[in-house]
Parts: sequence; C-alpha cells; structure tokens
Amino acid sequence: MRSKELMTVSWKDNSVVMIDQTKLPDKLVFVRCTNYEQVADCIKRLVVRGAPAIGVAAAFGLALAAVKSKASDTSEIMNELEMAFKVLRNTRPTAVNLFWALDRVMQKAKSQTSVKTMKDAVLNEALKMAEEDIQANKKMGAFGASLIDDGDAILTHCNAGALATVAYGTALGVLRSAKEQGKRINVIATETRPVLQGARLTAFELKHDGIDVSVAPDTAVGSLMARGMIRKVIVGADRVLRSGHAFNKIGTYQIAILAKKHDIPFYVAAPLSSFDLNSSPGQVTIEERSFDEVVMMGGKRVVPKGVRVFNPAFDVTPPELISGIITEKGILTPPYDMSIKMVLG
Ligand code: MRU
Repeated sequence: MRSKELMTVSWKDNSVVMIDQTKLPDKLVFVRCTNYEQVADCIKRLVVRGAPAIGVAAAFGLALAAVKSKASDTSEIMNELEMAFKVLRNTRPTAVNLFWALDRVMQKAKSQTSVKTMKDAVLNEALKMAEEDIQANKKMGAFGASLIDDGDAILTHCNAGALATVAYGTALGVLRSAKEQGKRINVIATETRPVLQGARLTAFELKHDGIDVSVAPDTAVGSLMARGMIRKVIVGADRVLRSGHAFNKIGTYQIAILAKKHDIPFYVAAPLSSFDLNSSPGQVTIEERSFDEVVMMGGKRVVPKGVRVFNPAFDVTPPELISGIITEKGILTPPYDMSIKMVLG
C-alpha cells in the first residue's frame, strides 16, 4: 500500500479504526471503536458509509464482540455474538453488503467448537473480508479501465471511492486504474444533496490522489450533458438484483435517465458482495433518513417549519438504463438476468 493511500476502516490493537467521514473535507481524523455498539453508532451516523465499507465495519464489529468476550463456553459467546449481530443489522437497511458480511462471519462462528477458535475465526474472517474488498476493487478497476478512453470526462454521483470501501474504491477505483494506465481523465462529481458525499468526499479523495475533479450541483447534470461536457457516467451500487436493478444513492436514477436521453454510457461498478440474488425490487427497503439532513444547511434552517419533507437515501435504476455492470469477475452486459446467472449461478 502506498503511504498516502486512504484506509477507510481497519483493525488495529484490538480496535476498529475508521476515518470520520462526517468531518471531511475539513479534517482528516480517525475514530477508534472498542466495542460493537460504537461501530453500530458509527454506521448509523455515517462516520463510515458506502456499501462495502459498511459491510467490513460490521464484520469488525462482530470481531470486537468476539475478542472482548469473557464467555467461558461456546453457547455463552454465541449468545453475545447473536446480540451484536442484531444491533449491527439494524443500523442501515439498503446496502446488502451489511447483511452479507454479518451472515458470513456468523456462519464461520457457528462452525467452531471452542471459545478460543471462535474468537480467532471471527477475527480472521473479518480481516479476510477487508483484504478481499481491496483485491476485488483492484480487479474491478482493471476491468473497468478498458471502458475509459484517453481524454474522457466522466460524471460520478455520491462517493463510490476509497472512502466507501476499505481502500481504492469501486467506481472511483475504475478511474484510479484508468489514470494508472496513463489515460488523461477529468471527473465531474455531483454534490449529492443532502449529505454531500460528492462535494465533500469524492472531491476530497480525488484531489488527494491528484485526479482532476470538478464539482457540479445535482441539478446541473442535464445541462452539462446537453452541452457535451460528459462522455461517460460511472457510479457504485448498494445492492444489485438478479434482474440488474441497481440501488444506489438518491439521484442516481435521474442521472441514468438523462444519460439515456443524451446517448451517454451509464456504468455501475459493484463487487459481488453487493449482489442480492433473492430479492425483487419491491422487497428492498429504501432507507428514509432524518428530515434534518434536508431542512438544515450549514447549521441554518432553510425550509419553513411545519413543511413536510421527503428524504429517501437511495433509489433504483432499472436494467434498461445500465450499459454495463463492472465486477471483479468482468463486465456484465445486458440481458443482466443471463450475465449475472453466468457469473453468480
Ligand atoms: O448513504 P451512503 O453514503 O452510505 O451511500 C453510499 C452510496 O450510495 C454509494 O454510491 C454506494 O454505497 C456504492 S459504494 C462503493
């Protein structure tokens, strides 16, 4: 790892260390969690956010519950893990990586026969997932870079970068990889109201890595496309269904419609840990976040008191608007029910 590379979430000295993303871009500070309740709180408050990062943080939350346990037998430690599992599961509903990660670690725990091996197995599984996430991002980056041409102007929404994963990123990993191949690119990051993941986080991490980035209001996307200022769109995903429906940050759907209207390729980059092969679009819970995120701006109320507010955090883009889905196993193309079946079975 290069010394400057951002590590969003990691395990250090029996604690979970995370970049506090609520403080970016003003301050690059780290928080240290020593119990799973703190990890759950960090996930809820968006200290750590982005589907793959949430998954790994939750896995480390279970690891904290295991290694700090004073249980004397396996059923006692299993009860403690079940409790941590419940609390961590109830943090955020949309990114499937959370449930995938928690289920995978619990599965590992259940197959152990002593307290000691359970502690070791849970921690090792979480560490393995963190490493796998980085490797998946690098592979996705290598595949996805083939879609990027020298001189491209690429629009991205929200933050699907190093800060949304353990390191390197999904959509932004593709852009990093294209840059590493010597392609000149410029990135347009949408602000991503109301939490500003694009303006605060994508702009921060691309600037940090020396990638040309500009920020535009979410409302400018159609105009920029009509003026020929965008060649491609690439975004991440919180959940991709068997049908190819992609759940991602609110606003993604309207960008995909605008891209279709202007004949601009629209790509989704998502690791296999973000795929949910069991749900239909109507079964996925879209997180509704606090109205405070919408009514307050810079500490000041901008919406009259008593006015109703909608604040869905995610939307769903249907497969017919998606030109390709970049995964660590290659680039999936329509029809997605077929290409996803070939890769995931
Ligand atoms: O609410 P957030 O910031 O967790 O939402 C994040 C996104 O929507 C990302 O685009 C998605 O998780 C993909 S991250 C590789």
